[in-house]
Amino acid sequence: MKKWFAVIGNPIAHSLSPYMHDTWLQELEMEATYIPIHVEEGKLEEAVQALKLLGCSGWNVTVPYKEAIIPFLDEIDESAKHIGAVNTVVKTVDGKFVGYNTDGFGFIQSLGPIKADDRILMLGAGGAARGIVHAFKQRGFKNIAIANRTYANAEKLVEDLQIGQALTLQEAEDNLELFDIIVQTTSLGMKSNSTTLPIKLNKIKEDAIVADIVYNPLVTPFLEEAEKYNVRTINGLGMLVHQGALAFSYWNELNPDSDEMILRLTEQLGGNYVNR
Ligand code: ATR
Repeated sequence: MKKWFAVIGNPIAHSLSPYMHDTWLQELEMEATYIPIHVEEGKLEEAVQALKLLGCSGWNVTVPYKEAIIPFLDEIDESAKHIGAVNTVVKTVDGKFVGYNTDGFGFIQSLGPIKADDRILMLGAGGAARGIVHAFKQRGFKNIAIANRTYANAEKLVEDLQIGQALTLQEAEDNLELFDIIVQTTSLGMKSNSTTLPIKLNKIKEDAIVADIVYNPLVTPFLEEAEKYNVRTINGLGMLVHQGALAFSYWNELNPDSDEMILRLTEQLGGNYVNR
């Protein structure tokens, strides 16, 4: 049977994953396809049963099902267990469905070359931050601060993952010169017309990297602010593509071309913006 893959979520219509994976499948001349599936609220279990029954070879999971899917899988990889969320499901040769999380790895790949002693400031302590902090920890990074609007949530993340230090957003802003990599993961990143920023950047180091996990808009208000300080900025498109490439390699044992895909998607999103 022709292999097929999917992404499940709600909403799903605007997902870039079908274009990305279909393009890679074609480029690598694989007889397979990748489709978006909108899963209605309360129908996740049935949807997973259907995917298994209909011979899906693997699928991605997006909002709001990354945590909820866990009980419906046969095994969860250690990292996904720690993070408490799955974004990739792989069907093994013996027919088991195993959950992985490739988001944090994807994010770190998108940063390009960085040093293990770089000091990292996370803004936000939600699900996305959790995946990224876990990936930094796995890569041996030790200097991680987590600043969040609700301080207790930053403390919880530090405690759960046994790494880093919790800060208030004010403390992060006041001590910004201490950090080499600043990662914006709060929901503020998504409001393109918002002028609210999680922190002010006036104390930023001149050689800092500022990353936002959002890719639409390509230049978020936070990155726009960072550009005023002439620092290197990175949007969330690299994370999207690299997490997808890792999922693709789990399914197909082939590595697709991520750099070319970042350029294509940038163009599709109407940007000539390329991460510097
Ligand atoms: P995700 O899975 O994208 O990380 P999430 O788990 O809902 O989403 O987390 C959202 C993050 O954005 C949280 O860190 C949240 O802070 P709180 O823990 O205080 O809720 C942060 N956030 C949301 N709205 C915010 C705002 N207006 N200002 C600052 N932080 C905000």
